[in-house]
Amino acid sequence: MFETLSKAPQDKIFALMAEVAADARPGKIDLGIGVYKDDDGNTPIMSAVRKAEERILTTARTKTYIGVAGNKGFCTAMVDLALAGTVPAERVRSVQAPGGTGAVWVLLTLLKRAKPNGRVWISDPSWPNHKPMAEQAGFAVATYPYFDPATRGVRFEEMLATLDTLGPDDIVLLHGCCHNPTGANLTPGQWDEVVASLSRTGAFPLIDLAYQGFGDGLEEDAYGARAIAKAIPEFVLATSCSKNFGIYRERVGCAIIAGKDAAAADVANSQMLNIVRGAYSQPPDHGAEIVRIILEDKDLRAEWQAELEAMRQRMVGNRQALADAIRARSNSTDFDFVAQHRGMFSLLGLGVSTVEHLKANNAVYMLDDSRINIAGLADERIQRLADAIVGATH
Ligand code: LMR
Repeated sequence: MFETLSKAPQDKIFALMAEVAADARPGKIDLGIGVYKDDDGNTPIMSAVRKAEERILTTARTKTYIGVAGNKGFCTAMVDLALAGTVPAERVRSVQAPGGTGAVWVLLTLLKRAKPNGRVWISDPSWPNHKPMAEQAGFAVATYPYFDPATRGVRFEEMLATLDTLGPDDIVLLHGCCHNPTGANLTPGQWDEVVASLSRTGAFPLIDLAYQGFGDGLEEDAYGARAIAKAIPEFVLATSCSKNFGIYRERVGCAIIAGKDAAAADVANSQMLNIVRGAYSQPPDHGAEIVRIILEDKDLRAEWQAELEAMRQRMVGNRQALADAIRARSNSTDFDFVAQHRGMFSLLGLGVSTVEHLKANNAVYMLDDSRINIAGLADERIQRLADAIVGATH
């Protein structure tokens, strides 16, 4: 029967992960998949997470089903973390989802039911999984201008001009913060202009907030989502705990919807629950319970926030160190933009042949579009990476 199938394209992020693992060269530098790594190359379990897990181990009394929407306390806390009361609770509904990706999937499936003839607009470029996910949900996908390879910043005028041409059948997928793959982000003022455009056109916002706390801070990174929440009566928002709680493999995210009133929110929520039940019945609880415990406990929450802030500072420090090291070797400011970008990623703007050269000659691995994960760098590697980049480009 399977002869009816042809081979599906491999996800390039996970393909690169396998390539790195298969490379036996000592000192290889993995700038591929978006996971945070400490100076020893480990992705640590945060101490607040460890403590919450210990609490679960000693106090949990049952493994019975949790329900289709998942962990209710978790959902309430996640809505609060992202939106901080910017929408009245009676207009908001949420379900726990298997990771940020799962949340995006639930919401795309919901939007397809609501807007069968809709078109999804993603940034050019976007996370490599956005387009296939939107297509899998049955949508046509188009792009709005976003990254300017010349300045390595946002082509904001062009982005806005495109958004202004959209209408109510259009869904705009926006990266809430820490744009993946570019690292170039909207300023608060630019977010306000995007919100004004959405208000004018009636285009529908789908916000993917996968990196809250990794850019400029927990509150700062939610600026765009909250600006939309204050001004646009209906929107959907996917959040993730993979990065900011470091619980990648537990697969924890939240699919959040805001309706124009409580009745509209209830109807949309019933569809969301129907989608979940028909796909995987209900989400697993462990990771969500970790997050609930941390967010509801004052001390654990403070501990988590301090750990998250230390990770963020380290990424900002890595950015500056890499920009400085390249400048010192090349006598040029060509890569200074790395220090301005925020989040895990920066798009270096190297050609595929340079990316291949770095892989073959320096055991430096990045995505073929030259996206690097800045959080994968230790100081010694920053110096070697700077040598390799300058060697390949100057
Ligand atoms: C990435 O872009 O590397 C991360 O978001 C991990 C993933 O699931 O692709």
